[in-house]
Amino acid sequence: MFRKPLILALLVTGLLLMISPVLAGGWSVATLDSLPACVVAEEPLEIGFMVRQHGVHILDELKPLIAADHDESGEQFRVEAVADGDGHYTAELVFPVEGQWDWRFQAFGPDQPLPVLTVLPAGESCPDESEAAEEDDPAVLVEQGLALFVAKGCVVCHQHDAAAFDAFESINVGPELTDYQSEPDFLCRWLDNPTALAAKTMMPDLGLSGTEIESLIMFLNATEDMEAETVTPGWCGDLLASAVTDH
Ligand code: HEC
Repeated sequence: MFRKPLILALLVTGLLLMISPVLAGGWSVATLDSLPACVVAEEPLEIGFMVRQHGVHILDELKPLIAADHDESGEQFRVEAVADGDGHYTAELVFPVEGQWDWRFQAFGPDQPLPVLTVLPAGESCPDESEAAEEDDPAVLVEQGLALFVAKGCVVCHQHDAAAFDAFESINVGPELTDYQSEPDFLCRWLDNPTALAAKTMMPDLGLSGTEIESLIMFLNATEDMEAETVTPGWCGDLLASAVTDH
């Protein structure tokens, strides 16, 4: 009696699998606009992100979800993001309780992890910007670079052992970067606009800011002896700006 609807449902699902690129596999890179500076329980957090199929073509017709799990209690929630054009989406998240949250994009292809989020207790106020972590502390920059490596979607194309997650595997279309190091000036230009240095590269311009690039470089070039590094905040932005005025 109940068989027919079931068979029909299976057929329809089968057809959908054949015609829907979303269900039929493929992969995408989601790129968070910016790392949330401070998240408080019960207060809305607005996020924005881009989705690029194979890291290149922007995808406009998705219904991406953000899924979040609370480490301690196992509590979960999911929020649907809204498209606002040109491959960009926004979502409003409310984390119900404080603590460590694992969260991830469910956009197109496999889930894509986001860097673990520490949510402050409800009612707590965010630290004053001026009191916030010292911007030129190398250890802080490396930590931020790691978070950006995940949040910007580098992790989809590049394996890096410091950015490993359960139930997630890099597609590895780019070189593994675990033991990679390079000249900061080169990396600054490369991360700003890969195509300007290698016309045929598959690596996209992810629209990174100078500050984000500086943190990513600190992360990529991190050594045991970070204290020895001298860091001048803004150096990469200055380098890029001077390259523009040179023309
Ligand atoms: C869509 C896939 C993709 C994404 C996303 C991506 N890359 Fe790449 N990346 C590549 C590929 C492919 C190469 C190989 C170089 C080429 O194509 O010329 C590469 C090369 C590199 C290199 C080596 C450059 C060199 O020549 O020494 C670095 C460093 C790098 N990527 C860092 C990053 C970082 C950091 C991010 C995130 C902000 C990122 N990549 C995002 C695909 C990607």
